[in-house]
Amino acid sequence: MSLPDLDAAQPADRPNAPRAAKVRVRVPGKINLALAVGPLAADGFHPLSTVFQAVSLFEDVQARWRDDDQIRLQMTGQGSEELPCDQTNLAVRAALALRQRHGSSELGVDLRIDKQIPMAGGMAGGSADAAGTLLACNALWGLGLGLPELSELAAELGSDVAFGLHAGNALGTGRGEQLTALPASGRLDWVFAVAPRGLSTPAVYRHFDLMAERGELVPSAQLAAEVVATLSSGTPDRVAGALRNDLQPAAVALYPELAATLTAGEAVDGVLASLVCGSGPTSAFLCVDAAAADRLAADLGGLPEVRQVLRAFGPAPRPKLEVTV
Ligand code: C5P
Repeated sequence: MSLPDLDAAQPADRPNAPRAAKVRVRVPGKINLALAVGPLAADGFHPLSTVFQAVSLFEDVQARWRDDDQIRLQMTGQGSEELPCDQTNLAVRAALALRQRHGSSELGVDLRIDKQIPMAGGMAGGSADAAGTLLACNALWGLGLGLPELSELAAELGSDVAFGLHAGNALGTGRGEQLTALPASGRLDWVFAVAPRGLSTPAVYRHFDLMAERGELVPSAQLAAEVVATLSSGTPDRVAGALRNDLQPAAVALYPELAATLTAGEAVDGVLASLVCGSGPTSAFLCVDAAAADRLAADLGGLPEVRQVLRAFGPAPRPKLEVTV
């Protein structure tokens, strides 16, 4: 099954689509309900099978027209003070890549991003910024690129960027950038425990490789079709039984305090399962309902290795563009 076209994306056969004064888009973060990781390949990446679920923590991306060719970025919110706003920022790289693809180096933009997704937390906050920038600048500059072309650019920017364009539930293969839409399940109630420090994704993958070399795990990107079906459309207790993150042992090895957070959360009444988000170190807890999630959120705040507790639900819907002409 292929992904449906994004409602707001302008079709590529309208090259003269109107430019806008301002475009706003909110892109959700993600959790990997399953992350099956194969052995390191010659390209330096690991083949994956992953079930992505978008969750209701959002990066709010605003793009405003500029009359010159400058690409400027301002960031506010969660962890923004630690982020560079220059050409090393993934959002700026996304705007540059889009402009280069279109061959229009005179286009400029003022980008403002308000962050809710924890930084370096395994929830694709930077990828959501890049996805939002691609969507917003495509509309602002009237480029008329469709979702397939934006997805190609997204894949060049990072493995999780393409999912930010789509959200909902999706199966990711390849590096995680080849997406197939999955049915949107019923609501899942999540609590996220944000750790005081971040983990580097490449470092977690390197540790995964080391554990494989030592025979402590056997890399496999295989994910059974029944597991994928359960994760995308099962009840919360069935989803809880099918959760899997192959990077979790490596993340916990690099950040051993996570084990205590996971165990403490699991022990709370109404918590169905715990899981490290992607490459970590954010811990996720799937709860039986919203009331149980509220109770857990209150309990987790007191733990030593928890900097912040966030409540969210999944699956969050696809990003919608608000265009001001
Ligand atoms: O694609 P992204 O920029 O998120 O990847 C960051 C790093 O994570 C890569 O440079 C690679 O070391 C590792 N990675 C990997 N296999 C993947 C995705 C990421 O080894 N499928």
